[in-house]
Amino acid sequence: MIRWSQLGFGRTSSTSTSQQTERNLMGFKDGTRNIKAESADDFDDFVWVGGETDQAWMKGGSYLVARRIRMLIESWDTDYLADQENVFGRYKTSGAPLSGKQEFDTPDVRAKAFDGTPVIPLNAQIRLAGPETNSGQKILRRGYSYTDGIDLDTGLLDAGLFFIAYQKDPRRQFVPIQTRLGQRDNLNEYIRHTGSALFAVPPGLAAAGDWWGKSPFG
Ligand code: HEM
Repeated sequence: MIRWSQLGFGRTSSTSTSQQTERNLMGFKDGTRNIKAESADDFDDFVWVGGETDQAWMKGGSYLVARRIRMLIESWDTDYLADQENVFGRYKTSGAPLSGKQEFDTPDVRAKAFDGTPVIPLNAQIRLAGPETNSGQKILRRGYSYTDGIDLDTGLLDAGLFFIAYQKDPRRQFVPIQTRLGQRDNLNEYIRHTGSALFAVPPGLAAAGDWWGKSPFG
């Protein structure tokens, strides 16, 4: 029985090197440094549950974190460009990190401006969420934008990101990243998390005669 659903559109994170990076409702390219389908090692290291699990039925599956994150778009749209770029740590037009020139340049979190201040701000999203700050951990983001009309209490847009991420161990991946973002992310001024869920996703079908859910229920 379906208890709840969220209509989304226009995936917000690219997940393959063959895709152009999409823009989210804040106008920024999203998914530049996501795990890509072509990197099999990243899938084994960060996405598929492996031999480390104490839940044998989850081996080959993954854990899905879903968050409904509302964007305060009216207030975001009044912010000036340089401030928006400091929120993420990337240029809006090209998607390049503030420490680089091209979209896929690796962010240099140690880069300093001539006056000694960090080029990628200390509370920029890419610094706080990136593997350099999270013991090398990554997640596979696969979200969608959503718009659910107008918030009748305020007359403002009810729109944002339906964040979806896959990982092999949320305690080591999503939770520490979100905790760091929740404490310090420059983006917090412009977003509100309004819903949250965690799903265990059993492995897919390996052979003829298999059925989905066989590992937990078979
Ligand atoms: C409305 C909320 C959010 C927006 C608009 C947003 C937007 C972005 C943008 C524009 C980037 C830079 C481009 C990229 O590499 O994809 C980025 C990076 C990233 N975000 Fe978010 N994000 C949001 C929430 C979150 C949340 C809740 C998490 C996880 C807890 C998260 C994790 C990440 C990660 C891991 C990266 C890549 C960092 C790197 O390795 O450089 N984001 N996000």
